[in-house]
Formats: sequence, C-alpha cells, structure tokens
Amino acid sequence: MAGNGPERASPRRAGTRPHAVCSVSELPPGERKIVEVGNRSIGVFNVHGDFYALRSLCPHQGAPLCRGTITGTARASQPGEFIWEREGQVLRCPWHGWEFDITSGRSVFNPHRLRVRTYDVTVEQRAEEEDPSVESFDVTVEDGWVVLHA
Ligand code: FES
Repeated sequence: MAGNGPERASPRRAGTRPHAVCSVSELPPGERKIVEVGNRSIGVFNVHGDFYALRSLCPHQGAPLCRGTITGTARASQPGEFIWEREGQVLRCPWHGWEFDITSGRSVFNPHRLRVRTYDVTVEQRAEEEDPSVESFDVTVEDGWVVLHA
C-alpha cells in the first residue's frame, strides 16, 4: 500500500524488483491498471488515494480477477439487516463472483483461509533516468510515480 507521499507504508519484499506503472495522476481513486510482469498479470488499484496490487489470478478457477467489478460488500448486522460497507475496496471476480478485499487480498467470505497474492506499491518522486533498475511501462508525467514491487 502506498499513499500520495514519498514514504513507504511497508517494507519491500525480498526478491522483488521495482516497476514504474504510471504517474499518480494517471491512476485516480477508484481506477486500476493491469500490467504484465514476466508471466504474471498484476492489477494496481487506487483505493481512496492509497495504492495496492493483486495478482490477477482468481484462486477459485483461475479467472483474470483484476478485470472484475470494483465494489463494496454487504455485512449482516443482525438477522434480516444488512449494512453496505467497504465501497471501492472489494473486487468481484468476473467469472463466479467471489469477492476479495483489495487492501489485503483476503477473501470476503473466508478471509482466514483464502487470499490472493498481494504486492507492495510505493509512490516515488524520482525520475526513471535516475534509477535505471526501474522498469517503465507508460510514464509520461512526473507528479509522483506509482511503483510496483514484484
Ligand atoms: S474463477 Fe473467480 S470466482 Fe470462480
């Protein structure tokens, strides 16, 4: 996860490489970009100003999960009553509709046993030329870079 500041919200995982995905302005809240890193398809999401990344591979039957609908979910507050919550934070698989929390990769219905692979995302100010190890996809504006670590 990364906010709009240059600080990192979590340490990078060992063995990952940085990949510049786009400028911050090219990925506004509620939007996603799907990129190919090696043989992996990965979705990078802006959820209310913070960035997250998920493997686009549903653990149910392998559908391209990150092409699904971004939505919220209903929680039962008591029998017969439901509360709509987590709007913009839930990803619904385009095949059978399983739902996952974009911010954690965890399944909505079985969060302790089922999850999608997540990746770290940072927002950085440096230009690509300053760090040739950053693989660029489509960056044109230097208002902060959304960098995927995968
Ligand atoms: S493949 Fe995703 S819910 Fe079935």
